[in-house]
Amino acid sequence: HDILNPDLSFQGKNILITAGPTQEAIDPVRYISNHSSGKMGIALAEKAAERGAKVTLILGPTALKPKPHPNIKIIPVTSALDMFEASQNHHNEAKVVIFCAAVADYRSEKPSVEKIKKKDSALQIKLVKNPDIAKTLGANKKQGQLHIGFALETDEGVLSAENKLKEKNFDFVVLNSLLDSEAGFQKDTNQVTILSKNKENIKTPVMSKELLAIQLLDRIGSLLENKFD
Ligand code: CTP
Ligand code: CA
Repeated sequence: HDILNPDLSFQGKNILITAGPTQEAIDPVRYISNHSSGKMGIALAEKAAERGAKVTLILGPTALKPKPHPNIKIIPVTSALDMFEASQNHHNEAKVVIFCAAVADYRSEKPSVEKIKKKDSALQIKLVKNPDIAKTLGANKKQGQLHIGFALETDEGVLSAENKLKEKNFDFVVLNSLLDSEAGFQKDTNQVTILSKNKENIKTPVMSKELLAIQLLDRIGSLLENKFD
């Protein structure tokens, strides 16, 4: 993909991207969340918009934002349930869905309406499972639609990422192993392994999240060109 040979496979296509963390309220002042910055999803949104895609970015709470671009619509969300609802609303129209968000797996069953006062005893908060957005939409994938996932693992993670690829019906999954010190939360660089349905398994060099976004979009672009619908 270069200036002489631009990738036109994204022109006018709708791309849905989930990004950032989610926050699950415990009470009006406290929440459960994670260290996701949203950088990877924001980079994907910017680069896809530059290629002419119409991007819907469902973005959890983060200080970062994409550079303003007429092709990027941001839908800010807070909790996993909010993100789930927004994702369902925009699923049908999307040609490509990229599940980049670090969705909290659990939420408090009953967030307190009042600030929880500290007591002398231990505090127990009952957590219930959040819906799996990628899995639910994956079971409902449209004809000709592509679903791309991420997998975050603290170990090597290939087996677990392969399970996610299957279970969530991804076309490919991008494995971030926190064993690689250049990868992961808050970092500007990433090193990933890309696992596809056809069992090919590609480890990328360490690179900026922007460059990785470009390479992932190149890959998605070539899949789009081979899809007939
Ligand atoms: N995902 C999602 N909704 C969730 C949880 C995860 O859409 N409730 C998506 C993520 O955006 C990512 C993929 O599923 O694309 C894998 O997320 P990850 O947290 O690595 O996997 P989980 O299936 O949640 O399993 P675990 O956290 O136990 O490893
Ligand atoms: Ca998870």
